[in-house]
Amino acid sequence: MKKIRKAVIPAAGLGTRVLPATKAMPKEMLTIVDKPAIQYIVEEAAASGIEDVLIITNRGKGLLEDHFDRAPELEERLAADPGKAAVLEEVRNISRLCNVWYVRQKETKGLGHAVNCARSFVGGEPFAVLYGDDVIIGEDPACAQLIRAYEKYGLGVAGVKEVSAEAIRKYSSLKVQPLEGGCMRCTDMVEKPGPGEEFSLYSILGRCILPPEIFDILDSTPPGFGGEIQLTDAMKALAREKGMIAVDFTGKRYDMGSKLGVMQANVEVALGHPEIGGAFREYLRGLAGSI
Ligand code: UTP
Repeated sequence: MKKIRKAVIPAAGLGTRVLPATKAMPKEMLTIVDKPAIQYIVEEAAASGIEDVLIITNRGKGLLEDHFDRAPELEERLAADPGKAAVLEEVRNISRLCNVWYVRQKETKGLGHAVNCARSFVGGEPFAVLYGDDVIIGEDPACAQLIRAYEKYGLGVAGVKEVSAEAIRKYSSLKVQPLEGGCMRCTDMVEKPGPGEEFSLYSILGRCILPPEIFDILDSTPPGFGGEIQLTDAMKALAREKGMIAVDFTGKRYDMGSKLGVMQANVEVALGHPEIGGAFREYLRGLAGSI
């Protein structure tokens, strides 16, 4: 079985739900306290053993590229101040996480179309996809949990969580039968199901492992919901033909593509932040009394 060494992070969406922040900046650069969302995601990939990451971009490319590059002038300034040694190390480490590559999605035609832009980068290997606006924080990296399921079952894997009956209308719904250890066999799925169309409340959230055959499937996937080429439609074909594995991953997932998700991520991460956690908790306690 081929090892999973490559990951694709689609980051070329228009981010219309978080406008105007995303007018000139990709939503993947929105911060959670002091780190952009995409850094959490690349850190998760690196912690899962991924060596090469391809970020699919279309605008704000400079910002993303600069973030994972060295910053000689800034590093020189930090190096001159002994009090800034820790932050210097943190800044330098960003460029050492893994090899980061970029390709542009020339038209914003959907997540499936974005993933299809990774065909030559991926070649004939299975690969991980980490959605650029889904940050998952937990002890055991979500991507690593999916890789272990791929290694066990040898099938494509989707990271899933159970969502509410209202939320399932906005996401995908999977037909699943339980296996063991948080894994399920998935044989069908539907994107944004209408009332009565859902298979279950398990929905794909942010992570998957795909075999290279997905590219041929994507080539023949017509535009689906919203006139976009949906990755779920291609995964549906894969699940029906070969079967997939759904992994109910551990970790807290934050939707950085929504304003509420951005605020939840910031409040929860700030509460546990080593530098500001204590002061922020005090601040929130005071605020809570007045609302
Ligand atoms: P979303 O559907 O949440 O992205 O895609 P969006 O289109 O930016 O969202 P809204 O509804 O307008 O706010 C999930 C992930 O796929 C990427 C996005 O950047 C996000 O990380 N994506 C989406 C692409 O790379 N290309 C696309 O054409 C669409």
